[in-house]
Amino acid sequence: MQTKSANPRWLALKALMLVIGQGRSLDSAADAVLADSTGLEARNLSLYQELLRGTCRWFLALQLILKPYLRKSFKSKDRDLEVILLIGLYQILLMRVDDHAAVNETVKLAQLQHKHWAKGLVNGILRQVIRDEVVIEAAHHAASYPQWMQQRISQDWPQHYAQILEAGNSRAPLTLRVDIRQRSVESIIQSLQNQGVTAARHEVVESAIVLDRACDVTRLDEFSAGLVSVQDAAAQLAVGLLDCRSKMRVLDACAAPGGKTAHLLQLVDDLDLIALDQDASRLQRVNQNLLRIDRHASLVCGDATAPEHWYEGSEFDRILADLPCSGSGVVRRHPDIKLLRRASDIAQLVDTQQRILVALWPLLKPGGLMLYSTCSIYKDENERQIEWFVKKHDNCVERPLDSVQWGEQRPWGRQILPGLYNMDGFFYACLQKVTADKM
Ligand SMILES: C[S@@+](CC[C@H](N)C(=O)[O-])C[C@H]1O[C@@H](n2cnc3c(N)ncnc32)[C@H](O)[C@@H]1O
Repeated sequence: MQTKSANPRWLALKALMLVIGQGRSLDSAADAVLADSTGLEARNLSLYQELLRGTCRWFLALQLILKPYLRKSFKSKDRDLEVILLIGLYQILLMRVDDHAAVNETVKLAQLQHKHWAKGLVNGILRQVIRDEVVIEAAHHAASYPQWMQQRISQDWPQHYAQILEAGNSRAPLTLRVDIRQRSVESIIQSLQNQGVTAARHEVVESAIVLDRACDVTRLDEFSAGLVSVQDAAAQLAVGLLDCRSKMRVLDACAAPGGKTAHLLQLVDDLDLIALDQDASRLQRVNQNLLRIDRHASLVCGDATAPEHWYEGSEFDRILADLPCSGSGVVRRHPDIKLLRRASDIAQLVDTQQRILVALWPLLKPGGLMLYSTCSIYKDENERQIEWFVKKHDNCVERPLDSVQWGEQRPWGRQILPGLYNMDGFFYACLQKVTADKM
């Protein structure tokens, strides 16, 4: 008989409870629960991931569907029962699990949680939903976002509103960045094919290949050899915009986990590169990434808003400011954003971004470039932020990114909305320091 810790549904429940109950991020909850499990065979591992991510993605809409079937809301000690029912609904409404199996397996979860008294309740509600022939409708896309997110997206992007919500509810592809200075994209695609992994060249991003289905990339020879790295196609566009050349002194100001640090060094391997991040444990991941691709940067643990603690006084030719943001462009990869972020976070993030930009600007050489990027689609974090910054600094001009083939040129900066060429949502603005700072 399958034990609890090898049951993908029970493990998904456990991870979701960490997200809902403790505010843990989905990725860290997923990893923590897996680490505690007795190990899942490949089929169950993908079922676990699908149940966990899918239920999280549709959580708020499923709650709405469930509501009329409940006589009263669950007490906080029975929150697990609500989550059990949502996992059941996800299987019935959004997966191709046989109804009978979905109901039985969900009832079993109540039993595994030692809530035998609730077996009839879970069974009755799910059977009623099936009898009622409930289906997911277009309006459920919006219902799976908190109201404040719906409002912000519709204010910022009224004409793209439905498309953005849908894109955020889609499953993100697994996209790899190929080190195209070492190997051609075609040869990598062929080599992956030989290992049973089907992939195709991305439509617009030269270095990107998109896998047909997710797989454990760490097992691929090309990954261990540093020839491919996991990175969304939109994120792969950043580094090319910085126009780095041999021996330049470059600051990657918010570097962890090092996706763009690695990309910078794969494009120009003799950069004098400082990778800064304030989170020491995340900085470890930059180190691991650089070891894997066999490149070097100086890793510095420090706060970008307070350079006086780490800056050694030699100005940079280039600064990459890939700043902390709301993640509103990557909701499809991180559906927990819909459950964990609060409306009030945005003003705080905007403030942090401003403080980082203002603190970094004096570190840039006259003539130097700073690339501002976020994986957000909110205008406050993007175009309004750049407008504010450029107007505040009379030695700063924006270099329009109008020679590229992707995204939308905005009054300030360039925006990719989620789903465009199957990419994450991203924003970029390239700023040039035209004269020295006034003393
Ligand atoms: C969007 S992530 C960066 C992703 C990274 N550039 C990449 O491509 O892999 C933002 C990073 O900023 C870091 N961070 C947030 N506030 C910071 C600050 N004040 N100083 C330095 N790093 C900060 C976070 O720890 C996080 O690792």
